[in-house]
Amino acid sequence: MDLFDKCTAFTRANQARAEGWYPYFKEIQSGAGAEVMVDGRKMIMIGSNNYLGLTQHPKVLEASTEALKKYGSGCTGSRFLNGTLDIHTKLEEKLANFMKTEAALCFSTGFQTNLGTVSTIVGKSDTIYADRGNHASLVDGSRLAIGKTLKYRHNDMQDLERLLNSDNGKNGGKLIATDGVFSMEGDVVDLPAVMNIAKKHNARVMVDDAHSIGVLGKNGRGTAEHYNIPQSEVDLVMGTFSKSFASLGGFIAGKEYVVDYIKHHSRPFIFSASMPPSAVAAVIASVDIIENEPEHLAKLWANTNKMKKGFDEMGLNTGASATPIIPIHIGDDMATFGFWKALFEHGIFANPSITPAVPPGHGIIRTSYMATHTDEILDRVLDTFYKLGKQFDLI
Ligand SMILES: Cc1ncc(COP(=O)(O)O)c(C=O)c1O
Repeated sequence: MDLFDKCTAFTRANQARAEGWYPYFKEIQSGAGAEVMVDGRKMIMIGSNNYLGLTQHPKVLEASTEALKKYGSGCTGSRFLNGTLDIHTKLEEKLANFMKTEAALCFSTGFQTNLGTVSTIVGKSDTIYADRGNHASLVDGSRLAIGKTLKYRHNDMQDLERLLNSDNGKNGGKLIATDGVFSMEGDVVDLPAVMNIAKKHNARVMVDDAHSIGVLGKNGRGTAEHYNIPQSEVDLVMGTFSKSFASLGGFIAGKEYVVDYIKHHSRPFIFSASMPPSAVAAVIASVDIIENEPEHLAKLWANTNKMKKGFDEMGLNTGASATPIIPIHIGDDMATFGFWKALFEHGIFANPSITPAVPPGHGIIRTSYMATHTDEILDRVLDTFYKLGKQFDLI
């Protein structure tokens, strides 16, 4: 058997290309705005995580350009050795301050942050209790960790408690790991219940707030703020810079001694080059904007509420969404791709999600909203969904 037989046997992508419904790797010829250019055509973007629209904010662009000029294009080394700039440290201090935690540590991507945190903090005799709906990076972090992983049903607190009660690994440490906002469904973890259960069972809690920071809570601090839970009570909060922070990278925030341990043991942190200066500066500027320009958060929620109400009123199924991520449930894979293609032909860029991103047969069109979407754009989106919803027998 040849190693590459699996590649030869993989024909699905080519088949989709030939049939004209291949939805991936679409080239965009413009910046990540509310409208984008694709194949020379202007399209409405409702498939981005640029929640606050900061990728085009003048202060972000200026900070990023200045850093590029001052420090050059890359750091060419690990944070551990030659790759720590003064602005990396400044950003970590700023994030710890914003998140109201003792310390924060930046990784080069959000994915690496989860990989490098979970695999470092969970040792041989420890157990991870993970929501079945967690993002792939938390899943892979658990796979890399040498401790064991037990999965509970999505956002099902009784199931979590059942696992903790029945677990025989009681002597080791326990980590409950969950997304704050689930990236496909747009629903929010029942964090108060998670915190109570954690307290009762002496478990630590890690929340992936990739889609929550800059989105949830009065000041955009994420899931804990959304529930009025003091930030310091959540043991580890993870965030990415690839969404509200308009850049690339990620961070873990928590107690100083825990973050320091991760800093000195995490292989994805130590053996990988640090965030480039322009990316760091963009995040610093974004934190300032989030703290000083609350109008972006207010507009994001006005847009989100308008779209949720609009979809629900027409009878489309938006599941348990309670955030700017609003999935439209379609079902079968081919119907999902068909709906995606029709949207695309109508000038709307959305994301089709099928298994393994969602359970088999539960295909969705994942839509997500930004502060920079205008009412006129959003009305066009609603009109198109209404028309196609009828055509596809969803309404
Ligand atoms: C919930 C969640 N966690 C982590 C990540 C990884 O972040 P990044 O894309 O910044 O690597 C993502 C990104 O898709 C995500 O949705």
